[in-house]
Amino acid sequence: VTLLAALKASLFVGVVLLVGAGAFARFVGPELVAGARRRLRRGLLAGAGLLLAASFAEAVAVMTGAIGAFELERFAEYLLYTRHGQLTLARAGLVLALLALGLGNGRLPRTAERVAFVASSLALLGTISAVSHSGVMGVPALLGDLVHLAAASLWAGALGYYAWAPCWREREALLSGARRLGSIGVWSVVLLGLTGAYLGLLHVSGFASFATPYGSTLLLKVKLVSLTVALAFVNRFALAPLLESEARRWPLKLGVRLESLLLVGVLLVTGALTTLEPPHDHLGSAPPPAPATAGPVLVGSSALPVGGGILLLQPEDGGWVTLTWQGQRGAEVTLAATSMEGGPLELLLVDEAGTQRPLAGLSLAPQQTIHLGLLDHAESWLLQGEVNGTPFTIQVSAD
Ligand code: HEM
Repeated sequence: VTLLAALKASLFVGVVLLVGAGAFARFVGPELVAGARRRLRRGLLAGAGLLLAASFAEAVAVMTGAIGAFELERFAEYLLYTRHGQLTLARAGLVLALLALGLGNGRLPRTAERVAFVASSLALLGTISAVSHSGVMGVPALLGDLVHLAAASLWAGALGYYAWAPCWREREALLSGARRLGSIGVWSVVLLGLTGAYLGLLHVSGFASFATPYGSTLLLKVKLVSLTVALAFVNRFALAPLLESEARRWPLKLGVRLESLLLVGVLLVTGALTTLEPPHDHLGSAPPPAPATAGPVLVGSSALPVGGGILLLQPEDGGWVTLTWQGQRGAEVTLAATSMEGGPLELLLVDEAGTQRPLAGLSLAPQQTIHLGLLDHAESWLLQGEVNGTPFTIQVSAD
């Protein structure tokens, strides 16, 4: 989890640097770009590199964690056939598109160029939201996460470049930048607060949840965000006016630099948050909606390359198992459950309507997910079968 959290945090910092450079040059400080072009270019390149490295390293870590070892051929299959892999490839393409658009591509008409930048950025953020905890909980949760991520990238990116731009002598440009940054900051904070509260309520149920690692990390994040917002208010309403009235710039410069460092802290904590298991309350319910992704939720589960695709197994509360087929073609599957000693156990399938029926074989379409359980609960058991004629055996443990 610690490695995945560090990779996730690097990925967020990469997004902020890449998308933030473009947003700053187009919408926040076009007047400041001339003096800061080199630093913006470096930030853009560093962001793209960090984002690509962290994305592929995360895919390697998730796959290796799931099948126990790194194999190049399996990794290629992982990238091609799993949702997480496909989104990682799409993300790489979008990073290249944003690099090509750079700080403003003079060859395209201004409006078309801006539309291309916003669309590519949102699509890039979508590839991250789609494999987040919220990305597999339905469209409203996915959109909530996307808006949250977009507001975070815009605020942290725009502020970061403003704070560290080497143009603290150009008073007029700094003034107009501060005004635009002020309104972007206010809107971003409102959106982040609303969507953050919504996402928090989706993942946390009841006060007891705050005692879990996920809950306490969320609390830490809210405290850090509150500190940052308080400093943002001081910067906006106490220090920015100093730019207008007198020639003193250092208080605002210091204030915005501190604010940008606090936002990096928020991104680090968010890296941990997105890799911890949220304490959803599924107790006593039928099998929960299956995570239909091979994203970071895979940790602790198994990805079995078998029969021309990958069979993902995700243990669920109550001893149920979610099984997802990731292949280009469908799969003919036969399944049987046995005890650890080899005695037969009766395997049950639950359909969409929640009806349970005994199961021996079935056809799975690409991306299809099914829920399996046992007639008699067992702590540990073996799931055996064949996928497109290739046999497999895997041990399922209730905890
Ligand atoms: C009151 C304020 C906030 C709350 C309650 C909040 C809460 C959350 C929650 C619950 C998640 C979902 C984590 C998961 O996938 O399990 C999240 C994701 C995230 N938050 Fe916040 N957040 C807040 C403010 C911020 C701020 C200020 C930033 C940075 C500038 C930020 C950056 C992010 C990022 C980058 C993600 C990851 C999105 C993804 O993986 O798709 N958040 N936040």
